[in-house]
Amino acid sequence: MAETDQAPPQSDQLAAMNLTDSVEKHAFSDRVLIRSIVGRPDGGAGLSGQKVRAGGWVKTGREQGKGTFAFLELNDGSCPANLQVIVDAGVAVLSKLVATGTCVVVDGILKVPPEGTRQKIELRVEKVVSVGEVDPAKYPIPKTKLTLEFLRDHLHLRSRTNTIAALARIRNALAFATHSFFQEHNFLYVHTPIITTSDCEGAGEMFQVTTLISESEKLERELIKSPPPSEAEIEAARQLVSERGEAVKQLKAAKASKSDITASVAELNKAKENLSKLEERSKLKPGIPKKDGKIDYTQDFFARQAFLTVSGQLQVETYACAVSNVYTFGPTFRAEQSHTSRHLAEFWMVEPEIAFADLQDDMKCAEAYVKYMCNWLLDKCLDDMEFMAKSYDKGCIDRLKMVASTPFVRITYTEAVELLEEAVKGGKKFENEVKWGIDLASEHERFLTEVKFQKPVIVYNYPKGIKAFYMRLNDDLKTVAAMDVLVPKVGELIGGSQREERYDVIRERISEMGLPLEPYEWYLDLRRFGTVKHCGFGLGFERMILFATGIDNIRDVIPFPRYPGRADL
Ligand code: 4AD
Ligand code: MG
Repeated sequence: MAETDQAPPQSDQLAAMNLTDSVEKHAFSDRVLIRSIVGRPDGGAGLSGQKVRAGGWVKTGREQGKGTFAFLELNDGSCPANLQVIVDAGVAVLSKLVATGTCVVVDGILKVPPEGTRQKIELRVEKVVSVGEVDPAKYPIPKTKLTLEFLRDHLHLRSRTNTIAALARIRNALAFATHSFFQEHNFLYVHTPIITTSDCEGAGEMFQVTTLISESEKLERELIKSPPPSEAEIEAARQLVSERGEAVKQLKAAKASKSDITASVAELNKAKENLSKLEERSKLKPGIPKKDGKIDYTQDFFARQAFLTVSGQLQVETYACAVSNVYTFGPTFRAEQSHTSRHLAEFWMVEPEIAFADLQDDMKCAEAYVKYMCNWLLDKCLDDMEFMAKSYDKGCIDRLKMVASTPFVRITYTEAVELLEEAVKGGKKFENEVKWGIDLASEHERFLTEVKFQKPVIVYNYPKGIKAFYMRLNDDLKTVAAMDVLVPKVGELIGGSQREERYDVIRERISEMGLPLEPYEWYLDLRRFGTVKHCGFGLGFERMILFATGIDNIRDVIPFPRYPGRADL
């Protein structure tokens, strides 16, 4: 699908509730928001006669009436709809205003346009206050249809397009909805660290944080500029120290004056200082510091190996096991070589953690949270959702309504595998073989949620062999109390579990998985001291946006996508 520059339909819901006949200036700038004009249920008609200042970027501009006036479609990002602006040739040089991308600030009078036009209101310009010109021959994102893939090469300008701006508003709304949901349910927002020394998932997919490389490069450059001292230079400095020492001794023996002795001692100290500086510099070696053949991380910034976090879960558990209901919402990083449309190297995760709660509570919370976000978008972002429906995915609004109102299916992993095996018997072809014990592939997950049930499905009680060490072992000793929420369009949206709260069991699980115990001692302390039944989950924030909007590629729903080979800006 391609970016279009047509003004999207307006929604009544966007409207300011009170239909006054005046429009308020924005609190922190000298113009009114276009949303506060065209976002009203009457499309702005009730504001006819008002004098306003508006500012924005030209979506489309054209000179009309043999150059006697120009139409500009102005957008300031406050809503998907544009404000139609009419400028007479007597007011400004029209050719400087009409290029797509031009920024204009104008003063004018709002007028109801003649019968038969699409707009409910237009702005007749009296004065052009300022213009940020665009040379259309050089502007990288002209008015033509542009693919989302093309826009990925112009991250700094793509927010000027209808699609990326709508996605920014939807993303913002979902973030607000997230805080609103958890705050309403008495969860505390906890900021977990971005830099960590624990591998939460134990999967070894972490980006390392180190200054060893830059430090060693700096040193190399410096050593080229001023090479380390030679053995002869050091020897000469040593010689000088002993000579100066001898001089002091002789002065003292000769009972010389106090001032002569003091001066001589000062000379000696200078020589000693110089020697120790040279000796220090002679120890400098280019390259990464090593000890016993391995990199010496005690010389690294944190005096140990450190990474970017893959999940805030382990740290947020320390707060759950003290203040009960918590959540963290932040960026997470995974150094996997995934080139799929569902994976990023940097993505945002929402991770609640609930004390005194089990897997059933976890599923209940996940379902309520997803439903809450669907309702929020229907309630607060319908105009942007209508744009998505028109431009990308006809069914996206119905999908939100369906998910908000339909109970999620719940099946065990074992039942899921049976259903998939049945499908294979019935002729369904999967690329990945189906048998008990496999990690469900994306194609399996999407079959369950899109074909078999056509609604969200929660799969729970997975084989312990394919899940992380912290998940609670079930009584069958074969499965763990894990759950994944699968949704149409995306597959896995949420991964969560009840946590293993039994000290002996979790210790055993860490060892069983071949992980070292030492780094997890602090985590084991949560079980050693005042352990509590608790659970939690992680929702991939970008996957939620994919699910809501029907956009195909995850690289288009985060402002600055990072994936193998790319980290622009
Ligand atoms: O299933 P995951 O790996 O679970 C955890 O990290 C747990 N520690 C969460 C918890 O229990 N607190 O990741 C959670 C979700 C996935 O369901 C998926 O939606 C998303 O994060 N996700 C990704 N999103 C984009 N790009 C990636 N590379 C992702 N990896 C996981
Ligand atoms: Mg997962």
